[in-house]
Amino acid sequence: MITKIKYGTPIETGTVVGKADAEADRPIFLTQVCNFILSYRLGQKDVVYGLGEAVRGINKRGWRYTSSNINDSLHTEDKQSLYAAHNFILVDGAERFGVFVDYAGTITWDIGYSDLNLLTISVDRPDFYLYIITAPTESQIICELRQLTGRSYIPPKWAFGYGQSRWSYMNADEVRTVVKKHRELGLPLDVVWLDIDYMENYKDFSISEAAFPNMKEFVDEMRREGVHLAPVIDAGVKIEDGYDIYEEGKNNGYFCKRADESDFVAGVWPGRVCFPDFLNEEAREWFGSKYKLFLDMGIYGFWNDMNEPAIFYSEENLEEVFNKISEYRSKNLDIYTFFTFKNMVSNISRHAEDYELFWHECGDEKIRHDKVHNLFGYNMVRAAADAFDKMAEDKRVLLISRSSCIGAHRYSGVWTGDNYSWWSHLLLNIRMMPSLNMCGFLFSGGDIGGFSGNTTEDLMMRWLAFGVFTPLMRNHSAMATRRQELWEFSQTEGFRNIVRLRYILLPYIYSEFMKAVLNDGMYFKPLSFDYPDDEDARTVEDELMVGESILIAPVYEQNATGRYVYLPEEMLLVRWTGDVSMSRRVYEKGRHYIHVALDEVIFFIRPDHLVPVSRGGDCVERTDFNHLMLLEFIKHKAVYELYDDDGETRDYQNPAHYATIYLEKDGEPTVSATRAITVERLAEPSYRPK
Ligand code: GLC
Repeated sequence: MITKIKYGTPIETGTVVGKADAEADRPIFLTQVCNFILSYRLGQKDVVYGLGEAVRGINKRGWRYTSSNINDSLHTEDKQSLYAAHNFILVDGAERFGVFVDYAGTITWDIGYSDLNLLTISVDRPDFYLYIITAPTESQIICELRQLTGRSYIPPKWAFGYGQSRWSYMNADEVRTVVKKHRELGLPLDVVWLDIDYMENYKDFSISEAAFPNMKEFVDEMRREGVHLAPVIDAGVKIEDGYDIYEEGKNNGYFCKRADESDFVAGVWPGRVCFPDFLNEEAREWFGSKYKLFLDMGIYGFWNDMNEPAIFYSEENLEEVFNKISEYRSKNLDIYTFFTFKNMVSNISRHAEDYELFWHECGDEKIRHDKVHNLFGYNMVRAAADAFDKMAEDKRVLLISRSSCIGAHRYSGVWTGDNYSWWSHLLLNIRMMPSLNMCGFLFSGGDIGGFSGNTTEDLMMRWLAFGVFTPLMRNHSAMATRRQELWEFSQTEGFRNIVRLRYILLPYIYSEFMKAVLNDGMYFKPLSFDYPDDEDARTVEDELMVGESILIAPVYEQNATGRYVYLPEEMLLVRWTGDVSMSRRVYEKGRHYIHVALDEVIFFIRPDHLVPVSRGGDCVERTDFNHLMLLEFIKHKAVYELYDDDGETRDYQNPAHYATIYLEKDGEPTVSATRAITVERLAEPSYRPK
C-alpha cells in the first residue's frame, strides 16, 4: 500500500512512474514537526535500511546522511554525502514501513545522530512528495517502491563478464596488451573500459586519432577477441571554437545558463567547460544523439562520469580566489587570515555556492540548479538511454553512472565512484550493495582493488573474491597508483581461478539478476530479508544473500586466514579452490569459524536450493549456458526457475526464457523448458579442502 502526501508545490522530478494507492494530507507513522521536518521515534531494536549509496552500515542507524550529490573521493565514515541521493529508507521494527521522498534538492536524514532513538527527515524546502509504503515484508515494500519508480535497468549479458579498467589506457596498443595478457594467462575478460585519454583533449564524442587510429577497425579486432570497449563520457563539454559539440550546444542554447543568460562556465578535465542542460528535453535529445558516433562503430558500452556535476572551479569563484590571493600577498598572514586563505584555496572545488550560479530550462520554467541538483546525473543517463531506445531499439547497451538518484535506476547501473584501496572500503562495498538494490540499482559494483591509493595483492584477491558476485565486476584504478591488472601480482593462478569462478557461476548470477529485475526484487539482500524472525540475522552486517540460493561471507580483513560466519539455518559450504568439482561440507545453523585461504572463494547454499553452473569460459559469449551442472543442497527436493535469454535483445518477458529444474534427493535432475538445455549433478569432489 502506497500513500502519497504532497507538500507545497513540488518540482516534478519524473522519478515516479507508477501510482500511489491513496493520497493523504498527513503521513502515517511519521510525526509532522513542520511542513518540511518529519520525525519518528525508533524502538531500540528497530533497524533502518536504505539510502543506497551512503557510508556506514546496512543498518543506517547512528549517523546523519545528506542527500546532495557530491564529487568527493574520500569516502570516510564522517562523510554525509557521496555521489548519489537515494531518498528511500525502510524502518523495520514494531512498525514496518518505507519512506520515499520525491525531491530534487537537499534532504538530511538524521537517523539517531542528534538523539539515539529519533529519526528526523528534514527537507530543505517545503515542496516535495512523500510516499509511505507499507507491506507485510521488507521485500514486498521494496517491490512496491520499484512499482512506483519503475523497473531496474538491464545491461547486455556480456556486461556480467570481467572488466578491466585503468585511468587510462593511453592508446590502442595498451588496450591490445591488456587483452593479450588476459588471453595468454587464461584470465577471462569481456570489457575494457576506456578512460578520458581515449578522447582528443578530453572532448566528449571525440576520439584521439593519434592514440586510437581507426577506432572502428579496432573495435572489430577487439570483438574478434571476445572483448567489448566501453568509453567514458563526461558531463562537461570543452569550450573550444570549432569543436562541433561545443558550437552546436552554444548556438542552440543547450548549455546551463547564468542569471544573465550567458553560458555558465566551470573547470573540469579539459579546462573550461559548459554543462549541457540535461533537464531540458531538447538538450537531452541533442546530447543523446551524439552517441551515434560510437554505436555506428559497434561500441555498446559507456560510463557517464563527473555528473554530480563535478566542478573543479567556477569562473566566478576562481576570480574571487585570485583577487583574495593578490590582497593577501601584502599581508602578514596570522592564524586567522592564514586559515581563511588556506580554506578558500582548498575549497575551490566542491564549492556549494557554485550550484547557485546556473539555471536549467525545464519546459517553460527556469530553475536554479541547487533546487534540482540531485537530478543532474539522472538526466544525463536518461539522455543516453532515451537515445539508445531510438538508435538501438532492440539492443541492450551497457551504461553505468557515477551520480544518480532513484529514477536513474531505470536507465543505467552505477559504480560506487572513487573508493580507496583500503580494507575498510571492501567492507563498505559489501554493505552498500543491498542498500543500492533496495533503491533499484541492481547492476552495480565498486572499483575492485580500490581506485585511489596503492592496492596490495591480498586486498586485490579478497576484493575480487567478493566481486565474483557483484553484477558489475570491474577492476579500476587511478593514474599514478600501483598497477592492479591481475597479472601484475605473483599469484596469477589464484587470480585466474577466482575470475574463472565468476564465469562458472554466471548462469546462476544472470538468472538471479534477471529474475530480481523482472520481479521488482533484489539480487543482494541483507540476511534479515530472508530470515525476518531471526534476531541474530538482523544484526549481520558482513554477509549477504545473493539470489535465492546463496549466502556469501566475504573475507575483508588483512592477514585473516578465515572468518566467523553466522548461518541462519543449516547450509552447505562450497569451497572453490580452482577445481570445478568444488568441495562441500554441511554446517549447522549458528556461528562457525571458516578458514578461507587467500586464493579460495567460499559460499553457502540454502537447504533444498540449487545453483546451476557452467563449465566457465574466457568471455561470456564463449560460456555455455545450455549444458549446466547443478551444485545443490537437497534434503528433500528443490525446484529452481532458471532464466536465460540471448543477452542482447530486449525481449525480456518471453516465457521461453524460463526453464524449471527439479531435483529430488538421490534422484536425477529433470528440466522442463522449451529450449534445449541439459542439466546434470556436479560430481562430488575427489579431494579434500586445503
Ligand atoms: C573520476 C572517475 C574515475 C575516473 C576519473 C578519470 O574520478 O570517478 O573513475 O577514472 O574520473 O576519468
